[in-house]
Amino acid sequence: MKFSAIVNMMLIMELFTSIRGAYFRFTNMDCNSLDSEFVEVKECILKMVSRNVVGMNFHMVIKYGKPIDKIQFNISIFRKSNVYRQFLVNHTIDFCYYMRNPEKYPIFYMFHDSLMAATNANHTCPYAEKDIYVRKMIFNDQTLKNLRTILPEGEYKLAVSVGGFGVWRLKVNVYGRRG
Ligand SMILES: *[C@@H]1O[C@H](CO)[C@@H](O)[C@H](O)[C@H]1NC(C)=O
Ligand SMILES: *[C@@H]1O[C@H](CO)[C@@H](O)[C@H](O)[C@H]1NC(C)=O
Ligand SMILES: *[C@@H]1O[C@H](CO)[C@@H](O)[C@H](O)[C@H]1NC(C)=O
Repeated sequence: MKFSAIVNMMLIMELFTSIRGAYFRFTNMDCNSLDSEFVEVKECILKMVSRNVVGMNFHMVIKYGKPIDKIQFNISIFRKSNVYRQFLVNHTIDFCYYMRNPEKYPIFYMFHDSLMAATNANHTCPYAEKDIYVRKMIFNDQTLKNLRTILPEGEYKLAVSVGGFGVWRLKVNVYGRRG
């Protein structure tokens, strides 16, 4: 196939996905334990879920001996223009409170159903599980619609930090393109 034909096909495919719904594609992710005695990252990878749809996969092992009932959760969104610059949000919430009242935090709630559908951490505190995973997470239509409303086209980094008992323990960066 000629190069221009391939480009055309890609354009048509992108147009198709953006008509069908808002288009946001994950391009990379990385996860780092900030405290290997507390949490170990076993898996952190993007995989194709279906044609043209990339899902997030994440598995961490909790090393801490007791159930966890004090969790800090923080999201920052960065937009790339040569370098990534802080954009829109940089919030920290009490995650245990959030899980009881998710609709009180629109910025986090935007991702709520997409995340809950993909994780075993889908309940309120405490978390007694030793293995916490996110499997094949994709943004559902509602998340995409919200992202489309707040984010202009571009390259983004979502930086998520997770703390336990007041200490930052884990950092996850997800990169994506809003088309
Ligand atoms: C987010 O906010 C905190 C507290 O206001 C600040 O210390 C931190 O530098 C900010 N992070 C970024 C990436 O701007
Ligand atoms: C978000 O988490 C980072 C740690 O990764 C922290 O430095 C920053 O201050 C936090 N932001 C806010 C608003 O607390
Ligand atoms: C939470 O996740 C577990 C494990 O994937 C699943 O068995 C359970 O049905 C889920 N609960 C809810 C309320 O979705």
